[in-house]
Amino acid sequence: MEKIKLAAVCTFGLEAVVKRELQDLGYDNLETDNGWVYFDAEVEDIAKTNINLRSAERIMLILGQFKALSFEELFNKTYELPWDEWISVDGKFTVKGKSVKSKLFSVPDCQSIVKKAVVKKLAEKYDVEWFSESGAEFTILVSIHKDIATISMDTTGSREGLFKRGYREKSTIAPLKETMAAALIQLSYWNKNRILLDPMCGSGTIPIEAALIGRNIAPGLNRSFASEGWKKVKPEYFKNAKIEARKKIDLDTDIKIYAYDISKKAIAIAKQNAIEAGVEDCIEFEARDINSFGKTPFDYGIMITNPPYGERIGSEDEIKEIHRTIGRIFGKNETWSNYIITSNEEFEKDYGKKADKKRKLFNGDVKVEYYQYFGKRPE
Ligand SMILES: C[S@@+](CC[C@H](N)C(=O)[O-])C[C@H]1O[C@@H](n2cnc3c(N)ncnc32)[C@H](O)[C@@H]1O
Repeated sequence: MEKIKLAAVCTFGLEAVVKRELQDLGYDNLETDNGWVYFDAEVEDIAKTNINLRSAERIMLILGQFKALSFEELFNKTYELPWDEWISVDGKFTVKGKSVKSKLFSVPDCQSIVKKAVVKKLAEKYDVEWFSESGAEFTILVSIHKDIATISMDTTGSREGLFKRGYREKSTIAPLKETMAAALIQLSYWNKNRILLDPMCGSGTIPIEAALIGRNIAPGLNRSFASEGWKKVKPEYFKNAKIEARKKIDLDTDIKIYAYDISKKAIAIAKQNAIEAGVEDCIEFEARDINSFGKTPFDYGIMITNPPYGERIGSEDEIKEIHRTIGRIFGKNETWSNYIITSNEEFEKDYGKKADKKRKLFNGDVKVEYYQYFGKRPE
């Protein structure tokens, strides 16, 4: 079997979660570097990882990694890579680039050099002078860091990262990415035998991702991927990976998730999204103001929530009141574990207690903190 190198690319701060997911799928020899988790694989694994990973944004095929101090060096070493093994004569390819702390700093020039090297190689191999570019999509990335160039191709699809699961037809304002929601859940104490509550669920991303995890439904079962059209990636690789994933679905466990939001419209959207995802039976939805809680509705609950930040929704006073309610109602019950993702720096003060653990993350471009309060575990 041919060995290849892949990398699961994720948001900064989530490398450990993605690493754990890869280990659970049976991969070892994992190396982490600034949002990239590299691993040894075979071509079939392009399908397996795209379909199963929950917190990664995309899967890159690593074609080469070398030192490049001049454009000539970049051209020659790129040309040497086995482009014709992957890209068919009708392949539609684009080159993206980035450069950090490197002698070759002009990204447009690096992209154009790489494109020229790929075109030259393919023109020679296929004995053609022009390309119809009517076939499968190949997005090549030239990424130069401290003079080391990494040349990779996006197996997922340049427009549709892995956060696109296919269930979110509609969203409310400021939705979380599905990949981020899946990571927040996996960073928490929650498992399918515990009760989860998201009192500000918006379009339902956290409850739906939790239900998918609880049911062991692979997130990529209902979408397509750019590499499905690649000549080396046989159609049966994706077909078999989907069959394998479907076999692992657990429909027997009774999963209990509560999803509330003050907005009736948000609840209607969240419900529809849960239906699309096939997990509506795991989630109870209700339009409800978090401030209406007099006490926790049960013990040993897990709250994971993404309150309004004030940047796009909610006034400062309303947001403070929400933080105080979380602290006063859910923070006071020592059997509850509470997890809150927000960019609001006053959160701990309003909640009334320092978090047991914090993790810096990025929600899109917004710097956020994941505040984690650990409650007692059930006996
Ligand atoms: C940042 S959004 C949550 C987005 C959600 N995680 C998603 O992925 O779609 C915050 C949500 O809090 C809701 N909200 C604001 N004030 C509330 C309150 N007092 N009680 C319950 N929900 C509230 C808003 O309607 C909004 O849907």
